[in-house]
Amino acid sequence: MDTLAQRETWLAAIAGAHDAAQLAAVETHLFGPKGVVLELVRSVTSLPKEQRPAFGKAANAVKQEVEAALAAQREAFAQQALARELGAADFDPTEPGPRRARGALHPITIVQNELVDLFTSLGFQWQDGPEVESEYFNFDALNIPADHPARESQDTFWLEPHAGLGKNLLRTHTSPVQVRTLQRAVAQGFEPPLKVIVPGRCFRSETVDKSHEHTFYQMEGLVVDRVRGEHGVSTANLIHTMKTCLRVILERDVQVRLRPGFFPFVEPGFELDVNCPFCKGQGCSVCKQSGWIEILPCGMVHPNVLQKGGLDPEQFTGFAFGMGLQRVVMLRYGIDDIRQFMGGDLRFLQQFPEVAR
Ligand code: PHE
Repeated sequence: MDTLAQRETWLAAIAGAHDAAQLAAVETHLFGPKGVVLELVRSVTSLPKEQRPAFGKAANAVKQEVEAALAAQREAFAQQALARELGAADFDPTEPGPRRARGALHPITIVQNELVDLFTSLGFQWQDGPEVESEYFNFDALNIPADHPARESQDTFWLEPHAGLGKNLLRTHTSPVQVRTLQRAVAQGFEPPLKVIVPGRCFRSETVDKSHEHTFYQMEGLVVDRVRGEHGVSTANLIHTMKTCLRVILERDVQVRLRPGFFPFVEPGFELDVNCPFCKGQGCSVCKQSGWIEILPCGMVHPNVLQKGGLDPEQFTGFAFGMGLQRVVMLRYGIDDIRQFMGGDLRFLQQFPEVAR
């Protein structure tokens, strides 16, 4: 076989390609599945033994030469293409490159992350609990009597009962994790103090409007410590912790006030108000002219709850709070409609800073 003659034809075909597409076709002809160059190299096997070394050497040299020519031509076309692009009238090398669309964190996640950072820096631990909860942990263990209105079906999403499993529901608050955490801590040989936060999703069968959602986020806090001498966990500790938390999250100094609030699982129970960050207490539409915004239900852990958790209320005291995360986010960013959070409108979500964590 006249390898030399073929070599010239192939090199000519490569040189004769007018553009990258033609060159690609030539390449398939030469090196594709039935490529002629590869066939030439393989044809060595059909020769008498003594001719093989010389032919093999020559064929390989041709193959390498053709490959090199192809590569050079390919590179030349690429350079031409680039030059064309750079020379095009509408090419502006100072323009920023295409921006990759990046996801942004949901504002609730942003605020939750900040709160978790803050509380872990204060020595709290993150605790999880189930969204499908038992009636026992959601209500009974929290000293919420059977006839309490919160149990009525208008507030609670009850689940189909399963034989032998008792009644289950979608948790209406993160408080059930209080007793779960205490029980677990006691089972593991309780070493006070216990300081946990429980960020989580809660559900209530509410009519949805500007300030009510059926699905919402809370962050429960629980601190329990042994009474030492005269001293146990006090309301002063609670207020201090809450003030620190609100100052960080609302990014300004805050004044707080406590009003009595009724929750069966705390005694005394409080509603903690913060002076309105929008009007600085002067009175505006956000605070309904009162100068104060109700933000944080909290209180001292009820002795019955400590008992359900397995602790002696004579020896241990604690405080708990249940922050409504949407509420905090609304105050922080000045959002006035809670439905925005789960409305799925990207224009709303894209307003929040991209945060890479
Ligand atoms: N779990 C209560 C609620 O959702 C809030 C709360 C938590 C109150 C902890 C006091 C202490 O309404």
